[in-house]
Amino acid sequence: MIQQTPMISRADMIRCTLCADAPCDAACDRVRPAALLRSIWFQNEQTAAQRLPAENPCIVCAAPCEQKCVRAGEVSIRDLINRLYYQVQPECETAIPDSEERLKCDLCGIPLENPFLLSSSVVASTYDMCAAAFEAGWAGICFKTVCSLDIREASPRFSAVTGSDGSIIGFKNIEQLSDHSVAENMAIFRRLKAKYPTKFILASIMGQNEAEWGELARLCEENGADAVELNFSCPNMAEGGLGSDIGQVPELVERFTRAAKQACHIPVIAKLTPNVAEMSPAAEAAKRGGADGIAAINTIKSVTGLNLHTYVASPAVHGQSAVGGYSGNAVKPIALRFIAEMGHNPELKGLHLSAMGGVETWTDALEFMLLGGGSIQVTTAVMQYGYRIIDDLKAGLNLYLAEKGFRNVRQVIGLGLDALSGTTDTLERNTVIFPAFEKERCIGCGRCMISCSDGGHQAIRLDENRRPVLDGKKCVGCHLCVLVCPQRAIKPGKKRIVREKG
Ligand SMILES: Cc1cc2nc3c(=O)[nH]c(=O)nc-3n(C[C@H](O)[C@H](O)[C@H](O)COP(=O)(O)O)c2cc1C
Repeated sequence: MIQQTPMISRADMIRCTLCADAPCDAACDRVRPAALLRSIWFQNEQTAAQRLPAENPCIVCAAPCEQKCVRAGEVSIRDLINRLYYQVQPECETAIPDSEERLKCDLCGIPLENPFLLSSSVVASTYDMCAAAFEAGWAGICFKTVCSLDIREASPRFSAVTGSDGSIIGFKNIEQLSDHSVAENMAIFRRLKAKYPTKFILASIMGQNEAEWGELARLCEENGADAVELNFSCPNMAEGGLGSDIGQVPELVERFTRAAKQACHIPVIAKLTPNVAEMSPAAEAAKRGGADGIAAINTIKSVTGLNLHTYVASPAVHGQSAVGGYSGNAVKPIALRFIAEMGHNPELKGLHLSAMGGVETWTDALEFMLLGGGSIQVTTAVMQYGYRIIDDLKAGLNLYLAEKGFRNVRQVIGLGLDALSGTTDTLERNTVIFPAFEKERCIGCGRCMISCSDGGHQAIRLDENRRPVLDGKKCVGCHLCVLVCPQRAIKPGKKRIVREKG
């Protein structure tokens, strides 16, 4: 059974740096430790466990992998592999599928070999980068937004909010659009299409007026693009009414979508801004303009890293910073909310939703598909980990689909919509689910008691052995204790009806 909470998690690998050309691989002639550890990191440990040789070579090994590690002796590679053998393998009920047929889907009717594309950004901004992504297994790219403006980027241009293990949780950029000329980018499209005819080229464009939106769409089609994505949402291009300023004005979205649609014969999708209260007005406007799909989300306006000595936020460019776009895993809940809003909207039925915002693992991608995403785009995770993440995105999703008996990935699109309400007032309010404490796992830290006392309903006290005791009369079943327990020793427990229906 694929577990919701993997037995081995990123936390177990905290010192692994996910190296390039990992020395642990070079030190081992029996398994490829680096690929196995990456699969653990990207929630794909069931595939990793099934790819191990039948005999466990780690039993009688002096673990040269751990010695050659760039953090020699700090990563328990052998233990991690042993756990794949002894904890994960016995749980594997479904064999790794022998083909990726299940992953085949489409973007506005055009075939995709899998649902994964690079999203428009630096990760898909040159011929060599796109070619490398295709070779790695990405089904397509959304090329860095093409425009006729003179783009000169600031330096530095990124900033990050990091977790305790140093990995990037949220990412801020102040980058604008492609700094190549339109002609240079069209030459790249021609070369890419000639070399990779079955890969999907989504051409992101931004015009300054109707004529230019049309002209750019026409040129992209002429030079090999499979579809056009209209960038109505870059938060770093607000000057002159461009970027997310367009996405905030449905009339402009409709006008510019129509201009692009009338100028080409390939599908047109509108990329919308999350810097609005609701995305539906702009999405419906795009539909009226003839859009075949919606892409979302672009980055969220943000401020990060305010320096307490200079008073300048990050990135600081010559002593000055600016509000910029936030992306990465931190924005996923917000992105999911917008995708669900559009998935729920009957006016948008039939439109393709190309979903993005914080996808790192196959489980992230699946969440977007369950709420209506028909294809998945990724930038920040690729900036952090490289094109190689496609291996675990595909393998993890493929195994999940096989296990659940889905013949094709399209079958999961929208399955989570019915169980998600746009507002909380519709939820049932007559039952309380009390927390259940696993006394063997509890270490007596008292964090549940602190949170319940100061942020809950003062329903937990500690006994003489520092173990939690619940006052069922005070507990409202909010589950703050479940969330704060560092040992994960508190689980949802008994259900009790506290109010009669009505
Ligand atoms: C450095 C950087 C540059 C970006 N440039 C563009 C762009 O040129 N056009 C565009 O439509 N979106 C651009 N984006 C937004 C991404 O395509 C994507 O919508 C957003 O980052 C959310 O996905 P993610 O969390 O996977 O990065 C950029 C994002 C980043 C981080």
